[in-house]
Amino acid sequence: MLIAHISDFHIAAPGEKAYGVVPTAENLARCVDHINQVQPAVDLVLVTGDITANALPEEALRSAKLLAHLKMPFYIVPGNHDESEQLWSVFAEKGCPAIKPDFVNYAVDDYPIRFIALDSTVAGEPGGEICADQAVWLDEQLAAAEGKPVIIFMHHPPIKCGVLETDEDGFVGADLLGEVVEKYNNIERILCGHIHLNTHVRWCGTVVSIAPSMGLQLLLDLTMKLPSSFIKDAPAYLLHYWSPEQQLISHAVSLHETQGPYQF
Ligand SMILES: [Fe+2]
Ligand SMILES: [Fe+2]
Repeated sequence: MLIAHISDFHIAAPGEKAYGVVPTAENLARCVDHINQVQPAVDLVLVTGDITANALPEEALRSAKLLAHLKMPFYIVPGNHDESEQLWSVFAEKGCPAIKPDFVNYAVDDYPIRFIALDSTVAGEPGGEICADQAVWLDEQLAAAEGKPVIIFMHHPPIKCGVLETDEDGFVGADLLGEVVEKYNNIERILCGHIHLNTHVRWCGTVVSIAPSMGLQLLLDLTMKLPSSFIKDAPAYLLHYWSPEQQLISHAVSLHETQGPYQF
């Protein structure tokens, strides 16, 4: 099966751009169009948060309208730029089958992989958090998978990635989460966003894969000395191809202008 993983839209109000500069809505429309045309067809789309720029209802509605063009099911989790209850009211019918708006956690079981959505946001805070209740809930969901492969998707990566902007935000309860994750050997991947970079890290017996953003990319500064900045880039996303034989293979897809194809 083929999973498209898109993240960090930061969709501004109609007629506006993210930070006044990045046409993230246009970029999302391009990605949706691209995902709809991938062959073999994409089975489902996972959205790892920061859907809105400033948690405004008109931004959430604009995002929903853009995502409605996807030909396949999609599932969302909120990010620190979103307001969970607002997203839930916009996406509950399609894209967010969480039972409670303040606890946007749920599992999707219609595929050969069990997908677990984990809400890592804390109202008003840029960083992530998993509380004891969520760790217990996740443990139950992983146990219920009974060995079926699992993908967890959440906004904040539970690790530091060597970049100032998001390492400073932190993740409360990462140890708690790690203790649960380490108990299971069927977690194919933890898919995240938040960093606005295409970054992959081994963690607690699995791999954390972070998707790039809708053209609002973090300026990569591994010296961690420059002031945090972003660059305007082409929108990009990850395509995860899963088969029982090869498990999960991940490809980065960037909508940069290219030339070709030419024959090798
Ligand atoms: Fe973001
Ligand atoms: Fe974020």
